[in-house]
Amino acid sequence: MTSRPAPPEERIPVVELDPHGTDHHAEAARLRALGPVVRVRLPGEVLAWSVTDHALLHEMVADPRFSKDWHNWNAIRRGEIADGWPLIGMVKVTNMVTADGQEHRRLRKLVTQTFTPRRVQELRPRIERIVSDLLDALPSHAEPDGSVDLRLHFAHPVPMRVICELFGVPDHERPRLRELMDNIFRSDLPPEEVTASQIEQYQLLARVVETRRREPGDDLTSSLVTARDADPDALSEEELVGTLLVMLSAGQETTLSLITNAVRALLTHPGQRALAEKGDASVWADVVEETLRWDAPIGNFPFRYPLEDVEIAGVRIPKGEAIMAPYSAVGRDTAHHGEDAGQFDLTREQRKHLAFGHGPHFCLGAPLARLEAAVALPAVFARYPELSLAVDPGGLIPVPSLFSNSSTTLPVRLTASG
Ligand code: HEM
Repeated sequence: MTSRPAPPEERIPVVELDPHGTDHHAEAARLRALGPVVRVRLPGEVLAWSVTDHALLHEMVADPRFSKDWHNWNAIRRGEIADGWPLIGMVKVTNMVTADGQEHRRLRKLVTQTFTPRRVQELRPRIERIVSDLLDALPSHAEPDGSVDLRLHFAHPVPMRVICELFGVPDHERPRLRELMDNIFRSDLPPEEVTASQIEQYQLLARVVETRRREPGDDLTSSLVTARDADPDALSEEELVGTLLVMLSAGQETTLSLITNAVRALLTHPGQRALAEKGDASVWADVVEETLRWDAPIGNFPFRYPLEDVEIAGVRIPKGEAIMAPYSAVGRDTAHHGEDAGQFDLTREQRKHLAFGHGPHFCLGAPLARLEAAVALPAVFARYPELSLAVDPGGLIPVPSLFSNSSTTLPVRLTASG
């Protein structure tokens, strides 16, 4: 982090982030154009910062001077953030996402000790089965005009089924869980709905915990319950439910967007699609990585709070202010990805992106997300080689979120005559 003289605060441009997520990439381009450190205005007139330069963000997210603990946010301490604030569900939570240092390691380890790379790899046959069953059923979901919503009937249920089975969520809880998890990422809900949704999330997850306590199984909720019951100091009940919350929300919303965005990218880039369809597993891995970079499923991620006054690229950020990680913006940073950063290109050489974060909070679910996408994507194109978009891509409605970057539907035609 450099130490040029800090510009006076009033000269720092402010960009209003769109809670409807109307165009993440246009907004990200605006942020980047204004410089490496930008002031952003969030719903409710809440001010934060955004670090739009790949190299600086890479450094910041691994720097222990930046806390993830919301107790260190001045605005919350001053009582300026109401409980029904639309972004609260991503900010004021009790789990590894908002923990630092030793506490963070404790909470993360409770999951990683059972959610191991081996356990993830063992899921492959089950994921293949789920993908195959969903692909079989797609024609039965055709609308009267012949189109099928691939997001609703494929991209969503793949990660949803996988994560619910992994965490032993009873079948009858899943439909409502899915709606409640979607709400966490929305930025446009009215305060009453935000609060009601949060209460219901915790109630539903507490029921899942109780079910697995009564009837333990070979699932990760049961493992967490066992760890807590063996040593209540290892994990509080609130942390247990909070851990389920992050695993079940991040476990579906993000991967769902990755699959949706990758299919959309291939359907709108015929040359790249031809490369993928001709290629082997490594080309499909490139599809996954290039989609993560070019169309990051998590466009922005909240917040880090400096524990002391800091200077980034000559801009002074006071202790206790909120800093957003704008993964959409850094994914197309030309200084890191080259002048063609705006192109979707499976053959690019510089592939290292930040879409899963970096440092101690690096996405814990990255291997699972990569595996699910690596199974789902080649399978859909192999099963439906004539797959095409059923609508103009410009007409797709974005997810109303400043975190999730995707579209609410993906209407496709499964066959040329479909
Ligand atoms: C394409 C899919 C995914 C993307 C793009 C994604 C993105 C991210 C990002 C950017 C972070 C770090 C945020 C930060 O600190 O700035 C993160 C953290 C996390 N992700 Fe993911 N994620 C994905 C899938 C998953 C899945 C499938 C799971 C669970 C099974 C998961 C669980 C988590 C958890 C628990 C953390 C917090 C880690 C910590 O704070 O130590 N994610 N993810």
